Amino acid sequence: MVSSLPSLPSVPGTDPSSCILDAFRTAIAKRVSDALPPLTLEQAYTGVDYGKKGVDFTVALPRFRLPGKPDELAKKILTDFQPDDFVSTITHDKQFLHFQLNTASLIREVLNQIHTLTYDSPTGKPSYGTNTSGAGKKLVIEYSSPNIAKSFHVGHLRSTIIGAFLDNLYKSCGWEVVSLNYLGDWGTQFGMITTGYEKYGSQEELEKDAIKHLYDVYVKVSKDAETDPNVKVEAAKWFKRMEDGDESALANWRVWREMSVKKYIEEYERLNVSFNVYTGESEVGKEWQDRALERLETMGLISDANGAKLVDLEKWKLGKAVLRKADGTSIYLTRDIGGAIERWEKYHFDKMIYVVASQQDLHLSQFFKMLSLMEFPWADRLEHVNYGLVLGMSTRKGTAVFLDQIVREASSVMHDQMKRNEEKYNNIEDPEMVAREVGITGIKIQDMAAKRINNYTFNWDRMLSFEGDTGPYLQYAHVRLTSMERKNPELIPLPPPSQIDTSFLASSQHARDIAILLGSYPDVVKTALKTHEPSGVVTFAFRLAHAISSAWETLVVKGEENKEKARARLWLYICARDVLGASMRLLSIRPLERM
Ligand code: ARG
Repeated sequence: MVSSLPSLPSVPGTDPSSCILDAFRTAIAKRVSDALPPLTLEQAYTGVDYGKKGVDFTVALPRFRLPGKPDELAKKILTDFQPDDFVSTITHDKQFLHFQLNTASLIREVLNQIHTLTYDSPTGKPSYGTNTSGAGKKLVIEYSSPNIAKSFHVGHLRSTIIGAFLDNLYKSCGWEVVSLNYLGDWGTQFGMITTGYEKYGSQEELEKDAIKHLYDVYVKVSKDAETDPNVKVEAAKWFKRMEDGDESALANWRVWREMSVKKYIEEYERLNVSFNVYTGESEVGKEWQDRALERLETMGLISDANGAKLVDLEKWKLGKAVLRKADGTSIYLTRDIGGAIERWEKYHFDKMIYVVASQQDLHLSQFFKMLSLMEFPWADRLEHVNYGLVLGMSTRKGTAVFLDQIVREASSVMHDQMKRNEEKYNNIEDPEMVAREVGITGIKIQDMAAKRINNYTFNWDRMLSFEGDTGPYLQYAHVRLTSMERKNPELIPLPPPSQIDTSFLASSQHARDIAILLGSYPDVVKTALKTHEPSGVVTFAFRLAHAISSAWETLVVKGEENKEKARARLWLYICARDVLGASMRLLSIRPLERM
């Protein structure tokens, strides 16, 4: 896009062609550095921050550590101030200078950029908000990672939701991303199931819902084990045979795994989540685990405790960690270490992220520590993205143990909610689909609304209400924006941006508020990449939805006599819809067009 702004020197690390506010910030920085030599443009740029309460940008003068009092510095910048296409006013308040942008060019440039990058993007895909900071870099991200034959608990759901967000986020920032689902598909529980399958297994049930059936078998055989000690002995034998690669012990397990994965793929699809690779604990090659043990051994880090091998990490306050049991079978930790080495050999990643609950902080720290003790040069490329607990998750029928129960419950609670407004309900083409999507949005928004590390309490009523900052509210905001085109057919199609007169918007504070928010979206994405927090994006989406909802009454489209004016307003709403939709998709939500 060729912006119609005057040209400016370029500041490294900024890119006005993907974030137009970079141009405005540069213009502010230029005023500051021109007035305060020897301050460079780049130094000045780092001091330009978003302002508070209605202020566009603020510069805190003391941070430049220049000789002279803030008042004197401010005076230098303010002398002979002339407004231009970038800045309309500067106000001085003690140590601070507050800058207001030129409203007409702000609105025009922001909308132009959104339009260009959405409908005429150089990449061919809508790209407003994206950047290329990760070009040439590869991320491996592991998330969700449920255990076959055990319940899919909310911890896994959180990992799925946060992981999908990060997956999208890194892609948006130009990274090549390989997503892994590391299934808990190995371990003594499979010995248990093999033992119980003879008695409780059913081919029919397995085909109907493998995840549920294996869980049921596991629950039953575990119950038997409480009274019959033989069950566990038997199970351990089976698992040992599996570990030794005994084909006859593995045959059933293979089928179970495959059928479970098939079912998972369907369920993730509902959540708008997909993985490049379904791997799992079973797939970590024994040779990698052995190699890791050998390396630790030669480095003198391993000690023997009654036949089991362990590593002493007390020095780092990480306790003692067992790496191999006395019967020689591997464990979770060893598989993670071996798995990381194997992944390195396979992917040569620039970064590898594990999205795992904070309950496993110790486990992840132990395993990262061991990799660094082994002096792998890539050990510091691993990162644990953790998150807090979800409390009180249950369905109306009791505790939820499977993902599809959670999704079904969300759909049905939402469906009931929708039916309360009969007239509206009858107008919905596919209420089941809408209920499901809105329900899933409710779950996701509740999950990502606060900082990851916080615990939260699952609350169906709150998350599925149309009031307050909820998923349904966000979907509703998107639907309402989308309906603008349908409701104003005489204005559609809009002429090209160069023929839309945005000066009609310049006198509206609402339009201005919306424009600056829209303009900040690329920064919201960049910040999220640094913090790995979806909450910043959620907050942005709600701020935008609120700004739009306050504009409806004054910035009317239907009924506006002046068609030029109506077109400019409609365009603002369309751009707002596109950015709101982009932010929702980044959060892995499918924005609805009708509901
Ligand atoms: N399957 C594990 C669990 O449910 C989570 C796996 C986390 N990832 C890992 N590489 N350890 O607890």
